[in-house]
Amino acid sequence: MDSSYYTVIGLPYNNVIGEYALTVIHDFRCLFMVFDDLIDELIEDLAGDLLDEYPRLSLSKALEIVETIVSKYIARIVKALSGKQVGLEEFRRYSLYRFLRKEARRRAYYYLRRFKEDNLYRASGLIRSIIECMDRVDYECVRTNTIELLKLHVSSRERLDYIIEFLEVINKYTSGLFFSGRVLDIACGLNPLYPLLDPSRIKPVLIIGVDKDHQVLDVIKGLESVYNKLGIRIVLREADLLRYPDVLRDYTGLDVALILKFLHYAERMRRGIGDRVLNLLDTKYIVISEPTISLVKRRDIFLREKKFIRSLLERNGLLENIVYSGIVGSEIVFIVEK
Ligand SMILES: C[S@@+](CC[C@H](N)C(=O)[O-])C[C@H]1O[C@@H](n2cnc3c(N)ncnc32)[C@H](O)[C@@H]1O
Repeated sequence: MDSSYYTVIGLPYNNVIGEYALTVIHDFRCLFMVFDDLIDELIEDLAGDLLDEYPRLSLSKALEIVETIVSKYIARIVKALSGKQVGLEEFRRYSLYRFLRKEARRRAYYYLRRFKEDNLYRASGLIRSIIECMDRVDYECVRTNTIELLKLHVSSRERLDYIIEFLEVINKYTSGLFFSGRVLDIACGLNPLYPLLDPSRIKPVLIIGVDKDHQVLDVIKGLESVYNKLGIRIVLREADLLRYPDVLRDYTGLDVALILKFLHYAERMRRGIGDRVLNLLDTKYIVISEPTISLVKRRDIFLREKKFIRSLLERNGLLENIVYSGIVGSEIVFIVEK
């Protein structure tokens, strides 16, 4: 017999398979022959898939989820494999593999949803701290708590390593209007918190944040008194821009429109939405960014995103209007003057 085969009865108890095997044996069902290597590879493979799909998941949580799934369906796995010398490559073609992957992803999704709720709880504590810091006019304290708050949103967290450089580049190529003028932030996430990173310097008169996620908007709204004290008017609009892009018509005569890490996703979901959004905008500058690394597969997508933005600008007659294009941190940024 191949050394990679052994009877499950020989597996250690703390092993996922072993635990299940003991249950099975206890149930007097049967003894199985399993590929222990294949199961290990399968667990690693499915955990890797989860990390690609949900980058917020920790490795240990991904392994825990996958081990639970594999252990739950071990009888089906063993049945599918019994008597066959199947490698992972081949097993990936099995419908059972796809089923396991789907189950693991489903569990991860619900886990992260709960995790998001925990985050909202943490957010409310940080909002209180920022308000207290502001009462003491302690800008350093405002800044450090804002950084913690930004960490709760995956998109802003990814930007934290280069956030100041990012803001400075936008400000420089929008004639200083980003730090002082009227800003429209499309699919904003937690981005409208940026003035709180340097309240003595970054003082736009107006920020309009549009997003379909009311929870992120609630976080920003919780800081309304802080914005008021800084002399920044904040307007938040909950809207599904894929379905109702025309809400952008309501915002005219503004200085800077930000469309950060949103357009390509939107275009994939609804063809033509990028052109529609650009047409609707009435701002002096438009800032578009896309990630240079894929969140899901962790691969380099710089060229793809560059091509996407350039052809969008070309179609809309804005190629000649580019005042800046370059990479800042892990984002490709284009700034156009309208
Ligand atoms: C990758 S995040 C980028 C957030 C922010 N622009 C930034 O760069 O930090 C994408 C944002 O788009 C928002 N979004 C997704 N679909 C949307 C839609 N149909 N309408 C409006 N906002 C949407 C999400 O809620 C999320 O805040």
